[in-house]
Amino acid sequence: MEMTEKTTIDMELARRGRYKIEWAWQFMPVLQSLLARYQDEQPFKGHSIGACLHLEAKTACLLETLRKLGATVVAAGSNPLSTQDDVCEALRLEGMEVFSRHGMTTDEYFENLHAVLRHDLDIIVDDGADLVATIHTDYKEKLPKILGGSEETTTGVKRLKAMAKDGILAFPMISVNDAKSKYLFDNRYGTGQSVWDGIMRTTNMLVAGKIVVVAGYGWCGRGVALRAKALGARVIVTELDPHRAFEALMDGCEVKTMEQAAPIGDMFLTLTGNRKVIRGEHIARMKDGALLANAGHFDVEVWKPDLCELSEKVETIRDNVEAYRLRNGNSVFLLGEGRLVNLACGDGHPIEIMDLSFGMQLESALYISRHSLKPGVYDVPEDLDLAIMRTKLEASGISLETLLPEQEAYMKGWQE
Ligand SMILES: NC(=O)c1ccc[n+]([C@@H]2O[C@H](COP(=O)([O-])OP(=O)(O)OC[C@H]3O[C@@H](n4cnc5c(N)ncnc54)[C@H](O)[C@@H]3O)[C@@H](O)[C@H]2O)c1
Repeated sequence: MEMTEKTTIDMELARRGRYKIEWAWQFMPVLQSLLARYQDEQPFKGHSIGACLHLEAKTACLLETLRKLGATVVAAGSNPLSTQDDVCEALRLEGMEVFSRHGMTTDEYFENLHAVLRHDLDIIVDDGADLVATIHTDYKEKLPKILGGSEETTTGVKRLKAMAKDGILAFPMISVNDAKSKYLFDNRYGTGQSVWDGIMRTTNMLVAGKIVVVAGYGWCGRGVALRAKALGARVIVTELDPHRAFEALMDGCEVKTMEQAAPIGDMFLTLTGNRKVIRGEHIARMKDGALLANAGHFDVEVWKPDLCELSEKVETIRDNVEAYRLRNGNSVFLLGEGRLVNLACGDGHPIEIMDLSFGMQLESALYISRHSLKPGVYDVPEDLDLAIMRTKLEASGISLETLLPEQEAYMKGWQE
């Protein structure tokens, strides 16, 4: 398999990508302020950053900021359908090595990770932990040079923690996902908006009046359910966790098993980070015309082998919509091949949200470059998390109360 690095630049494509990047940049005050703060210092000079991220315009803003702060940056796409070719071309025009193309095969996807890892890297910025996993399995000789890195998403952090538990993880990784400035906003409101954006622009369907089944009431599921209700849908939640199930109930959702929800739902969304959440036994009981989409990190939540087995044929009937013609006479529609629907069928999270997440990524990479940490998975230091949030609030023109000395004493005391 050949690397998908391109040697000739399509100037028209690059121009379109540049417009997208410029559009995003103007709504990213956190990244702008970090660039202004560190530009003179060039803190990443001499560092080589390997990134595996969703290669669209907001990510390009992060990668270009890292470069402007002195880093050499090499990037691969973290999902075949989230890569935007025009954005990649704009980055290549500026001389960045970018290994990805929209619709790449699984073989190409992994070859692109290898293409990044063949470079002399010392910092890794990952989304889903594939880059980190691959360096540990195929490039062990490079491990000692890696200072560490940062991980963007819940599933990636889960994998890193499993590697640490098995005693394999050879360098420190900061869990950007677990910072408050990340999961409270990106996972909840980012996914909440962008999932519906992806579904609506792909299907042109009405959400109001539909029965929406949300599998997983974690940070992402809560956001998607919240926005579904605001759009006029009735929401059924499936969960494993008793507290989260009860929280869904208190939030006004129904709670059922997937088996119970399957014959009732109009739209099914998986956000669990788990696999085989929607399986053959569920699909066989669904209504004719049911819509299936996933927003969890990997395309294993809606179990496609079962879908294929139950179907006599599969037709692509619109961009990103596959109709599975089931042998029982019904059709179900799968969006974006069951990959992250907000990125496969849209542009991913809103810009202002990714400004926060990527601010954390930048600060975490900087922290890794400046501190000598033992191998393991680390939280983002609280002061960095708070500083990013304060910058965002300032940029939004929002001021906070400050404690009066008397209030401070009252909050700390017990006598009054
Ligand atoms: N689409 C995006 O842009 C985006 C953004 C952030 C995170 N993610 C991904 O979304 C997934 C969920 O992330 P999160 O932060 O909400 O995680 P989370 O851990 O907060 O929530 C996941 C929930 O799913 C539940 N669950 C697990 N298996 C289940 C099953 N079989 N049936 C029903 N419920 C089940 C868990 O109990 C948990 O409450 C992860 O894969 C994460 O990487 C996607």
